[in-house]
Amino acid sequence: MTLPILITGGTGFIGSHTAVALAEAGQPVVILDNLCNSSPKVLERLAKLGASPVTFVQADIRDSAALDALFARYTFAGVIHFAGLKAVGESVAQPLRYLDNNVSGTINLLQAMDRANVRRIVFSSSATVYGDPVHVPIPETATLNATNPYGRTKLMCEDALRALHTADPRWGIAVLRYFNPVGAHESGLLGEAPNGVPNNLMPYITQVALGQREYLQIFGADYDTPDGTGVRDYLHVRDLATGHLAALRALDEPKLLTINLGTGRGVSVKEMVDTFARVNGVPIPYKLGPRRPGDVAACFAHTQQAKTLLDWEPRFDLARMCADAWRWQSMNQQGFDTPL
Ligand code: NAD
Ligand code: UFG
Repeated sequence: MTLPILITGGTGFIGSHTAVALAEAGQPVVILDNLCNSSPKVLERLAKLGASPVTFVQADIRDSAALDALFARYTFAGVIHFAGLKAVGESVAQPLRYLDNNVSGTINLLQAMDRANVRRIVFSSSATVYGDPVHVPIPETATLNATNPYGRTKLMCEDALRALHTADPRWGIAVLRYFNPVGAHESGLLGEAPNGVPNNLMPYITQVALGQREYLQIFGADYDTPDGTGVRDYLHVRDLATGHLAALRALDEPKLLTINLGTGRGVSVKEMVDTFARVNGVPIPYKLGPRRPGDVAACFAHTQQAKTLLDWEPRFDLARMCADAWRWQSMNQQGFDTPL
């Protein structure tokens, strides 16, 4: 019998797609989420995709008793830890909330895992730990320098994981630094459903396409990039999900892995807007505006480690990311509250 994997934050954007990838690989999962940034209706969508968790537990990763009860109930093969708060602006306004949720929460989870003798974890880190990169593409060995409280919580968790592995080499730890996940499940059943005004480019574009917002504001057209707009490394969330499966497999032997997950290709805001409009046949009106404070000009991944250590490469291109994001948004105008 295959032991289940615990997915924390498994009803969120990346966690739900990862639950599908694990189901496709025949891997049972248990999901724990406190639903602070996701809908329980995600579970109905997972069921439609044949990816229901063995159990869903509504609980907080800071709740030791809940974690101990769950680890007593199941013998887990490992944990994929997505649960966390992720809004940069909010983290500037509420740093203690971010430290408590992301850092205390992660330490609490690691302690519960240790008590239960489960010492295999895949951790969601972010390219934000590189701050303003000196060179692109960014190798994993680049200087780490997060410039906002959210990014610093990721760095603190990474530091804790590194110290833990040094202290106790029985731990198998994969620190995955995601670049910019976008897109959605090709069925249109799962996707990104941000609360309020989207902070990120792709959900903003899809809401403009839908007519829910009048135009996209492009944050800065005077960067030192080919067309002056910001350059990022967008990857399809379905590819990101399979990266977690590859990381779990690579942890069959205890080790510490630190790996970028991106495509290695830089895409400008204008290229994204043009591709979305062309692929989906929907115009995206935009206005050029000032830079967004804290943004960097260009950020894209060096991808050799993912290929060498995980045998993982993304399959989906930018056109597919745009098509899937639009299918999701147009089929679910009220997000997960849209009736099935
Ligand atoms: P998300 O908000 O959609 O998913 C996170 C999930 O964690 C949500 O379902 C939320 O309810 C849950 N959660 C938060 N705090 C919790 C707690 N204390 N206890 C239990 N559950 C809790 O976000 P996502 O985009 O799926 O991101 C997943 C992870 O990847 C996060 O750690 C995020 O920081 C990281 N990440 C995301 C991006 C991105 O652009 N989406 C980029 C880099 C890293
Ligand atoms: N942008 C606009 N208009 C918008 C939104 C974004 O022009 O309305 C631009 C940004 O200036 C940037 C690009 O689109 O040049 C991408 O912006 P996002 O906000 O989508 O993504 P970021 O790269 O700024 O940040 C995201 C997450 C961070 C994470 C980082 C790396 O928000 O938390 O990716 O993973 F750390």
